[in-house]
Amino acid sequence: GKNSPCWCGSGKKYKHCHEEWDNTINVLKLQGKIVPSHNLIKSEEDIKWIKKAAKINNAVLDLVGEKICAGMTTEDKLVYDYTTSHGGIPACLGYEGFPKSVCTSINNEICHGIPSEKVVLKDGDIINVDCTTIVHKHFADASRMFCIGHVSEEAKRLVEVTKECLEIGKEAVRPWGYIGDIGAAIQEHAHKNGYSVVVDFCGHGVGNAFHEDPYVHHVGIRNTGMVIAPGMVFTIEPMINQGTRDLYIDKDNGWTSYTKDGKLSAQWENTILVTEKGIEVLAW
Ligand code: MF3
Ligand code: CO
Ligand code: CO
Repeated sequence: GKNSPCWCGSGKKYKHCHEEWDNTINVLKLQGKIVPSHNLIKSEEDIKWIKKAAKINNAVLDLVGEKICAGMTTEDKLVYDYTTSHGGIPACLGYEGFPKSVCTSINNEICHGIPSEKVVLKDGDIINVDCTTIVHKHFADASRMFCIGHVSEEAKRLVEVTKECLEIGKEAVRPWGYIGDIGAAIQEHAHKNGYSVVVDFCGHGVGNAFHEDPYVHHVGIRNTGMVIAPGMVFTIEPMINQGTRDLYIDKDNGWTSYTKDGKLSAQWENTILVTEKGIEVLAW
């Protein structure tokens, strides 16, 4: 009833909390739109824990940014030690058998590169470091690119345009807009710059699990896909290639994906919360 506690767990009366939200959703549903179910809407308690996970995740990526340089290996000790000593769990470690605490993807590697003490960073490399932290069963997921030493103009431009794709993707997020708006905006910007967009991997709901609905494609059509509603938390993580979008997966480790043509790939990822007014970036 209207005076009962809201389903979101806020403790507020339904009529003062999500009644209007439900009314909006029900109208959209009658119009045939794909709408998020209540389990995709984070409670204040969920958001509090996701923010704690994000705080560690942001700090660990800052730390990586301070330390990363030519001559260093990609071993994951820095991420593991910082995360665990600050009360977090590295979500990648053991996730579906992934062997390390973070993904490190260099040059023609698109994503899911496996850290190793045998892989040494060299002058001119571009690398994506993708980190996810768990605190109190809540997840925050983000990745950044780093340029090692003197990087070619071509590589620098790919890294910058990919960052712009993420920013443009975030700007396309509107409460009561559509998930398809995000991919449409990203795709336009990438193609305008002569790049391709990877379609085999996408962003995702995140927070109560590593990967939840909705799946956030980085190509798309405006006004299609799931309705974006306040309370949703998801990632945007475009993978942008210099050449073909086609890829192959490492036969030996079963994880690392590479560009089919050997050209460069870049990626940036944020975790965002949709609010009534717009978005709040939680992990970056
Ligand atoms: N962090 C990646 C993402 O953005 C997922 C990595 S899964 C792993 O969704 F197992 F490779 F770590
Ligand atoms: Co990630
Ligand atoms: Co992600």
